[in-house]
Amino acid sequence: QSVFNRLPHAIYFAPGRVNLIGEHIDYNGGRVLPAAISTGTYFAIARNGAARANVFSTLFQERKTIELSELLSIKATGHWTDYIVGLLLQLNNSFAPLAGVDILVASDLPQNSGLSSSASFTVGFGFALCDLLGFDLDRVSLALAARAAENDFVGVNCGIMDQFAIAMGKADHCIELDCSSLEYELVPMHLAGYEIVIANSMVPRKLAESNYNLRRTECEQALNVLQKQYSVVHLCELSASQVESCTELRKADVLWRRARHAVNENERVYESVAALKQGRLADFGICMNASHDSLRDDYEVSCPELDVLVDAARSIPGCLGSRMTGAGFGGCTVSIVESATLPEFSARLLEAYARSTSY
Ligand code: GLA
Repeated sequence: QSVFNRLPHAIYFAPGRVNLIGEHIDYNGGRVLPAAISTGTYFAIARNGAARANVFSTLFQERKTIELSELLSIKATGHWTDYIVGLLLQLNNSFAPLAGVDILVASDLPQNSGLSSSASFTVGFGFALCDLLGFDLDRVSLALAARAAENDFVGVNCGIMDQFAIAMGKADHCIELDCSSLEYELVPMHLAGYEIVIANSMVPRKLAESNYNLRRTECEQALNVLQKQYSVVHLCELSASQVESCTELRKADVLWRRARHAVNENERVYESVAALKQGRLADFGICMNASHDSLRDDYEVSCPELDVLVDAARSIPGCLGSRMTGAGFGGCTVSIVESATLPEFSARLLEAYARSTSY
């Protein structure tokens, strides 16, 4: 009320997400295993009776106005409101003319830390707007619209994992998602005596500025080489041995390692889901460890600070596995840790991290 001089119609929450395994393969038609988390983004929203969206971010302590009549001519500038404009453009395709709204956005999710603050922002804003204005948009379509907002307007060539996990997540479940068909299954998290622990390296990562788009291009180049030999649409349709035996790809060492990560990671998701369903948490931990090693060595999206966190976590008794989560180049790790050892785990992890890094 103090920002817009009106009470909100409603307040909405969109979670962030942690990816348990299946990293950098959503855009390669692979399987991923993310889960929604209980920190996220909050939206207070009301109609304002004008042809504009007024947006206030508590994080940036900044208020911006977007004139809806100018929507089609607005250019992305790298400002946080790009995500709002991108999503408004998507909704405008199906539901024009849009009505004016006042929106206040707050978040308890660390930004640029691999927990999908941007997808939480776009999906949550889209959900709130559709609910307020009575637009009939199912959650999968909302996830696709939010991804299109990032791809087409913000300029990040991200896959569908984050938006899907945020739109479709459920308490005490992770989501096994086939990113080529969008078929999915909610997998119950029976962690009896264990916890999922997220550790923030505090190394900031901005997707648009990172090598994320470059990795996507490298995967497309690797796919082009493999398609001379195999009739496939996505990298993750191939087996590890098919990638290993492609002599032309092996000559392009970097591309070969990128493709090798993708197919091995996809295989690890199958193994992880089976292990989770059968309560074999130690096997799940082994897959998490192998995932990180592959992201560090073959895919080269880790960084020294993430490696310190992962190595330290693995050396602490009670930790079954640890890996970076999200796009990498900074951000968070995810570990599976015995509940009874949590206080000791946290203390030792913090101590090891402070000793080896400046963060
Ligand atoms: C970011 C992208 C996702 C996915 C991950 C890496 O979070 O938004 O689409 O590619 O990186 O797994």
